[in-house]
Amino acid sequence: MSAIVSIGALPLSEVLKAPEKGALTLIAFAGKDLALGAEAAKLLGDASGLIEKSAEFAGFKGKIGSALEFLAPAGLAAQKLIVLGTAPEKDGEKRDYLRLGGVAAAKLGKSKLARVIFDFAEAPDDAVAAAQDFALGLRLRSYKFDQFKSKKAKKDEPENDEPVEIFLAAPDAGALAPALAQAEALAESVNLARKLVNLPPNLLYPESFAAEAKELEKLGVSVEILDVPAMEKLGMRALLGVGQGSARPSRVVIMRWNGGKEGAAPLAFIGKGVCFDSGGVSIKPGAGMEDMKGDMGGAAAVTGLLRALTVRKAKANVVGAIGLVENMPDGAAQRPSDIVTAMSGTTIEIINTDAEGRLVLADVLWHVQSAYKPAFMIDLATLTGAILVSLGQDHAGLFSNNDDLSENLAKAGEATGEKVWRMPMGPAYEKMIESKFADIKNTGGRFAGSITAAHFLQHFVNDTPWAHLDIAGTAMSAPSNDLNQSWGSGWGVRLLDRLVRDFYEG
Ligand code: BES
Ligand code: MN
Ligand code: ZN
Repeated sequence: MSAIVSIGALPLSEVLKAPEKGALTLIAFAGKDLALGAEAAKLLGDASGLIEKSAEFAGFKGKIGSALEFLAPAGLAAQKLIVLGTAPEKDGEKRDYLRLGGVAAAKLGKSKLARVIFDFAEAPDDAVAAAQDFALGLRLRSYKFDQFKSKKAKKDEPENDEPVEIFLAAPDAGALAPALAQAEALAESVNLARKLVNLPPNLLYPESFAAEAKELEKLGVSVEILDVPAMEKLGMRALLGVGQGSARPSRVVIMRWNGGKEGAAPLAFIGKGVCFDSGGVSIKPGAGMEDMKGDMGGAAAVTGLLRALTVRKAKANVVGAIGLVENMPDGAAQRPSDIVTAMSGTTIEIINTDAEGRLVLADVLWHVQSAYKPAFMIDLATLTGAILVSLGQDHAGLFSNNDDLSENLAKAGEATGEKVWRMPMGPAYEKMIESKFADIKNTGGRFAGSITAAHFLQHFVNDTPWAHLDIAGTAMSAPSNDLNQSWGSGWGVRLLDRLVRDFYEG
């Protein structure tokens, strides 16, 4: 399936018109009892009998994720008819139009023009929302990171970069246009985050990442870049210590969107942007080290989020701040036993130079809190391997000093499928990062690695409501599913866009 998809709306009455050129693929929905929607049944006429006849033979029961395909169905101007199952996994659940869009994209094969008979069988009131989800699913599933494949098109795919055109045919086509535009904006923002995670670190390093963020100015984001002297001046010695072994200078990027009331405290999002994490002097084992190009998944999500909120003109004031460094071993690199003073004045004993993400976040959290007085701060970081041991790849770890913020994140997680699971914090864990020589140390030992990392971060947060999302399991090495086939998942963009939309706008 090509990465280039255009999605438009079409009056239902035109869905069977022969296209001016090329082949047409028709897509219809069928539920549990194989019933087509009323519109589809009418339009498909005799062809609808085919479906029942073939279903039993093909074992098609209308389950979501399954499909029936017919070539050159008699009586239709289409070369192909795809019937997508819509029945939810469990009775009583609503149709999952997002996933359905993903499944549709996967079934398109060589099709370059497809029309979807968009029957809102079970949700006539939510037709627009359903179309938006479906379009989002189509686009998310269609994303592919293939810019370094010199031979692109595979046999079952359209030619390179040829757009695949998809039309949602609905009774009130006009009403769908804004929803389709919103879906495109959000998908492009997720896909930007995915691309940043997928790019190799010889191409995506602190300066070039900052340049990518700067590009968002064209869309209306204001972007400020702090270089090394600017960070020195602010006293960001924790962050700078991590980058000092790299030939590539560190950067902090502050992105802003002010769509809310003038003077209203901003919502702040902070991202870990370690463009490559070799571990530094405490170097990582070779096996799997290549995955550490994705150690900027938090920064990628924050960048994608700022894009999404700006393009849809969210009614909120928002700050996105990312700490960009490369963690390398070198004669100039930081050593275990070094003591650094963070911008906050807290002194930190470096026990392990591979626990670098928390050092980067320490200064960015403190800076954002003091400079912008945010209503809340949420940080995203591929922070610990331990969170993979705890939660695997289906939930991000949530650590917070605030119950309301945590509940809202959990709800946004359920709504988007980007789920979070709250982890405990407390004085017993705090004790584990006490240092013999400084205020705190940067690792707490083998046990509870994700929790002691969160406690470390909390030292750089005052009374501001704060949540930390450990996304080491969800941002990279993503398992393929109906919505994502990319190594870098873009995790967090949809979650936080939804969080803002449902709880903090207006
Ligand atoms: N970037 C890693 C965490 C990570 C591991 C992300 C696997 C994605 C997949 C982080 O900087 C790190 O190295 N953490 C150490 C901390 C330890 C030294 C206290 C870890 O998790 O082992
Ligand atoms: Mn590390
Ligand atoms: Zn790291």
